[in-house]
Order: sequence, then structure tokens, then C-alpha cells
Amino acid sequence: MNTHKSSLLARDAKAVWHPFTQHGIPSRLLTASRAEGCYIYDADSNRYTDLISSWWVSIHGHSHPAVVEAISKQAATLDHVLFAGATHEPAVQLAEVLLEMAGMTAGKVFYSDDGSTAVEVAIKMALQFHSNQGDIRERIIAFSGGYHGDTFGAMTLGRSSHFFDKFPSTALDVQFLDVPEVWEGLDDEDADNLAIAQFEEMISDGKCAAVIFEPLVQGAGGMKFHSGRLLQGVVDAAKRHGVLVIADEIMTGFRRTGKIFATDWLETSVDILCLSKGLSGGMLPLAVTLAQGYIYDAFLGETFDRALAHGHSYTGNPIACAGALASMKLVNDPQTAATCDALTATLRREFLPLGERFGQLEHARVIGGIAAIDIKPGLIEYGSSVSRSMQEFYLDRGLVLRPVGRTIYLMPPYAIDEAEIIRACEIIGESVRTFL
Ligand SMILES: Cc1ncc(COP(=O)(O)O)c(C=O)c1O
Repeated sequence: MNTHKSSLLARDAKAVWHPFTQHGIPSRLLTASRAEGCYIYDADSNRYTDLISSWWVSIHGHSHPAVVEAISKQAATLDHVLFAGATHEPAVQLAEVLLEMAGMTAGKVFYSDDGSTAVEVAIKMALQFHSNQGDIRERIIAFSGGYHGDTFGAMTLGRSSHFFDKFPSTALDVQFLDVPEVWEGLDDEDADNLAIAQFEEMISDGKCAAVIFEPLVQGAGGMKFHSGRLLQGVVDAAKRHGVLVIADEIMTGFRRTGKIFATDWLETSVDILCLSKGLSGGMLPLAVTLAQGYIYDAFLGETFDRALAHGHSYTGNPIACAGALASMKLVNDPQTAATCDALTATLRREFLPLGERFGQLEHARVIGGIAAIDIKPGLIEYGSSVSRSMQEFYLDRGLVLRPVGRTIYLMPPYAIDEAEIIRACEIIGESVRTFL
């Protein structure tokens, strides 16, 4: 190990507290010093393939030149300005582009900083939308096993993921809907219809303000898929009962499920849409909550008490917006659509067979640029030593791969080489033979 690397690790251990990390258990850290495309390089110039797009943000690959250029230019022109009582070209242009992409051209874009805050804003919008009209609806329904972020409101909605068992007392009134999973070879229409009927019963008392879900794929909850049929049924029922539909597309947005938004698989538009992660091409924290025009209209009035009382210091940051404009140009490029289709085909061909090859694995599934498979129950526990050893095994072989719970998954930058997917699948196979 070079001296810079060892001193960086020592200084890190002295000064830094990492996310989702038990510092009482020693574990290896990747000392990233440079990144390009789907590769991260450490301080010794060892190369690692980023198979999870650095927590799903780097959709175009690291340091994409178009995004880098846009950010650099903007930083030298207008770095930041408060967003209450001021506006600027990058934020206005980005709002126009996003509304067009989402088919919400009569709607509005509210800026915030990360996925969790985009969800907080969505919830506030939904609750106040009803109360501004004199209708007291306080209950939110979330899909069981879903995850919507780490702030308290978002945690409450994601409580059933069990990430937040240490914080049992939170303020939102949330109920959870069990949704049937689908995977290759399983798609149960009767189970979907039952869940839709259960949902309709839960909202029939007129007290539910909104339903929130990660459309088609629940990410942190273990890359669990559900069917478009289930989602459509839930959306239709919500509309029948005046319940607002909030789609959390923080992970699924920008072609991750094969279309620009996962909700593009639906026949109906949603009321509120949360976006972040790939929005800025994975380079700067930025999030948006898109609301249909009728939601915005319910906040208009002569007094401030009808307004949405929410904002952050960096709301609408021009540099992040400029990066996002460059990122959206790439997302809308037909070449990106072709690249994503090719990635889906490679994942289907190389990843799905792992389920047949290894008896220790089950429920292989692929949608768009997401491939996932579960380790059979009882073979591994969340955060266990086997799980940590597997992660280090991948790192030793130059792969950044972090299974969630007992789910091994790939969610690489779109332009990853086919050869890298083939290599990753071989190494996953080796890890199964070694540890399970
Ligand atoms: C679906 C979904 N919603 C919300 C969030 C929270 O986003 P952030 O970590 O940027 O706060 C995440 C993060 O993984 C997510 O996957």
C-alpha cells in the first residue's frame, strides 16, 4: 500500500463517520482517487468496476464530459443565489425540460437537495393540498417493504423496510399495503387483484391523503419487483377516492426501468413525482418534486398560510441545475435509449441464468438496467460476516458490488461494456460457490 493511501485511511479512521456503517467491525475502505465511465480508481491506480452506479446515481458513468463541462461553466458564471425572491436560467430551463419529459406541462417543479427531501416535500404537498381545501386527510399509505429516505417523514413511510427500527416513534400516520412480488416465471394476477381490493378498502373511509410507492421496483428494500397491473389498479382506485398518487422515482427515473420514468409504463399520470439521484448525472446533490397544476393551484391565495412553507439553503442551486440539464440531454438522446436496451438484453442473457445454475439462489429478475437475485433464506443475514466477506471478495476482484440484505444486484452505469457484465456474473457465481 502506498504511503498516501495508508495515511488517508488512518486520517479517515480518526475523523470520519461513514453512512450505514458499523465502525465497531473492521472493514475495508475503497480509497477512491479518480473515476471515469464505469470505473473508479484507487490511490494505487487499481481499477474497480462500479456495478451499482455509486448508490444508483451515476447513470451515464463517472465524470461524463458533457456534465463536467456544464458544471464548470456554470460555477464560473453564477454559483448560487437564494431561490426565494430570485430566479435564474438553469432552474427555469430545467423545470421546463422535466415537466415536458414527465408529460406534466401544466405542472410545477419544486427544488430540493436529495431524495429524502423530495419525498418530504411531496408529503407536505399532499397533506396541505387537502387541508387547504378544508378536507382533513392525514393518513398516507406506503407499499410494504418500500424505502423513501432517511429523514423522519421519509423514514416513517419506509418503516416496513426495518432500516429504522431504532426510531419507533414518528409523527406521520402511515399504513402499509402488502404488494405481491414478481420475478422471472412468477406473475400472479389473482394476488394483484386481492392487493388492489385491499387498497381500495383501506382508502374507502375518505381519510387517506395520498399513496406513495417506488414504481415497479423497490430498491433498498431488496430490489423487489411488482407488476404494472398492480400499480395501475392502485392508481385507478386512488383516483376514484380522491387519494393523491405520489411516485417516488428517485431510483427508477431516467431510463432505469427501460422507459424514461417507470410510471411511463402506466396509462394514467400521477399527481406528484419525486426525482433525484441520476438527475444531475450523479455529480451534485439535487432533487425535484413535480406537482400537477391542480395541486399547485390549491396553494394559491391571499395569505401566506396557504403557501408551501418549505425551502433549503441550496434550493435550485444553479450549478446542480446546469449539470442536470446536461444529464437530461443525455437521457433524452436516442443513443442512450439504444444503449439501455442493449444493457437490458445483456443482463437478461448473462444474469438470469444464475438462478438456474445455482441452487443457493432464487427469484432471478431483470427490468431495464436492474438485475437482481436472492440468496435463499437462512444462508445469509443482513450485515453478517458472510455478507461482509462477500463484499470484500468482490472488491478484491475489482468489483464495487454491495448486496442489499440477501439480494445480489447489478445496477451499472448505462454505457458499461458487455464484457464487464459477463465478468461480474462469473465472479458472482464464484462467490456463491465460495460462501454459500
Ligand atoms: C426510492 C428512493 N427514495 C428515496 C431515497 C432517498 O434518497 P437520498 O438518499 O438521496 O436522500 C432513495 C435512496 O436510495 C431511494 O432509493
